[in-house]
Amino acid sequence: MRPGFIIGDGAPRLGRRFHLQPRIPFGVFKERTAAAVVSSSRQIDFKDRTDMRAKTAVVLGAQWGDEGKGKIVDVLSERFNAVARYAGGHNAGHTVIIGGQKFVLQLIPCGVLRPGCRGIIGNGVVLDPIAFLKEVAKLRALGVGVDEQLFVSNRAQVILPYHRMIELAAESAPGRKKIGTTSRGIGPAYEDKMARSGLRIVDLLRPELLKTHIEAACGEKNAIAHALFGTDPLDPAQMYDEYAAAAEQVRPFVRDTGRLLNQILREGGSVMFEGAQGTMLDIDHGTYPFVTSSSATAGGAATGTGVGPTAIGTVISVTKAYVTRVGEGPFPTEIHDAVGDHLRARGMEYGAVTGRPRRCGWLDIPLLRYSNQVNGAEWLVVTKLDVLDELEEIPICVGYEIAGKVTDEIPADVQGLEAIKTVYTRMKGWRSSTEGITEFDKLPQEARDYLRFQERESGAKIGMVSTGPDRDQTMLLPEFAAALASLHA
Ligand code: GDP
Ligand code: IMO
Ligand code: MG
Repeated sequence: MRPGFIIGDGAPRLGRRFHLQPRIPFGVFKERTAAAVVSSSRQIDFKDRTDMRAKTAVVLGAQWGDEGKGKIVDVLSERFNAVARYAGGHNAGHTVIIGGQKFVLQLIPCGVLRPGCRGIIGNGVVLDPIAFLKEVAKLRALGVGVDEQLFVSNRAQVILPYHRMIELAAESAPGRKKIGTTSRGIGPAYEDKMARSGLRIVDLLRPELLKTHIEAACGEKNAIAHALFGTDPLDPAQMYDEYAAAAEQVRPFVRDTGRLLNQILREGGSVMFEGAQGTMLDIDHGTYPFVTSSSATAGGAATGTGVGPTAIGTVISVTKAYVTRVGEGPFPTEIHDAVGDHLRARGMEYGAVTGRPRRCGWLDIPLLRYSNQVNGAEWLVVTKLDVLDELEEIPICVGYEIAGKVTDEIPADVQGLEAIKTVYTRMKGWRSSTEGITEFDKLPQEARDYLRFQERESGAKIGMVSTGPDRDQTMLLPEFAAALASLHA
């Protein structure tokens, strides 16, 4: 029952540039002398750039976050020398389950869970030093080798307590648009970055500079928060003591990570870029103003790490088999009845960071197509298929109707998004357990049909399907597996 108005042939583009090498053993990438670095960068020619591109992949979220990026990055990290976060901060919550043990990573890339894989926090990230140190301590206690594997960009921006103060006050102020943020100070920290008044990690490490920065910023932010929201002022002296002490603990992790990543690639290594949030939360391409404050989409991987766009090999977009959203903002396929509650309960849809219940909705093909277009996604990874196991029928949104006109253009404005009338097709459910199935052919026919429909209509080829939260509950489809196998060529 496919409606006739679906626009575009949805012909998938294949990951032809996705030829990764096996991971080079940890420790191969040594710091080099200045002379060696200069001479090797002079040697770069077009062929080198093509080789670099062949060894990188961006993994990102197709919708409003929580698509299961953490799990997928963890499964794939086996093949990569480094995993780099390029945007956001500790607003992210990436859950990884390995043999029943659960890890929730907020700032630190999931790659560090693999011994020998470097974790890199890129320049595009906003880093709260206290939150960072807490996460480091938690991972250390679990035996993860963070001290040897983790690096923080000297160009990343610092979140300070006044960022949270301003955000909390603004979010609850009468007359202000409530975004439903994670209250981590993310937005105000990016505001300062763009206003050129932020503090970068390199400056956090200079006590005198840190002191003058905190004094000046507190003077300004305390005055603003008091005048606008009646907030009590923060004490700059206390803040300085706390952050100067934290800086010393952050110091050993700090590097020029752009240089490090490029060096890894030049020496034949491979890098995965771990997206945070999702395409529809992107500051430019998302459902503005109900978005986060960073570039969550594929372009952000270049600006947020210092690796040039010509080095990006492929883009892997992660989508749930349905859709969720946390916080405020338009959500065309949101389910408002008991089926939504069923998905929330079965999928355990509660925020990994804030514990808020996630809003649930049906898969939205026009949105997925838009997301694939913005990201240039070649591969699609579908997670949480098992959550749909009990449904008799599964609606999929295949088109939008706005003011009586059928369209697949995503409105840029909130009013337009809210005016959408969704057009659904209904697919038969499979009503049997898919949990833990690791071969496509072993899935019920209806589940295979559901997945193939998504592939055909969204324009990206399905590379992986996830049928449970654990690392092992994952399948790689033959074409994707073959692309990965060229790692061992
Ligand atoms: P991320 O932010 O994109 O990394 O996603 P989150 O970790 O915030 O949310 C995804 C949730 O779904 C986590 O609790 C995962 O453990 C869980 N999950 C991931 N894949 C699957 C799956 O295939 N089936 C089920 N049932 N849960 C999954
Ligand atoms: P991961 O990486 C889901 C949402 C917040 C809010 C909006 C702005 O786990 O997928 P912010 O604190 O960033 O200013 O909040 O963005 N949000 C997320 N939703 N997953 C995330 O990250 C999110 N990060 C931010 O709920 O609506
Ligand atoms: Mg999450």
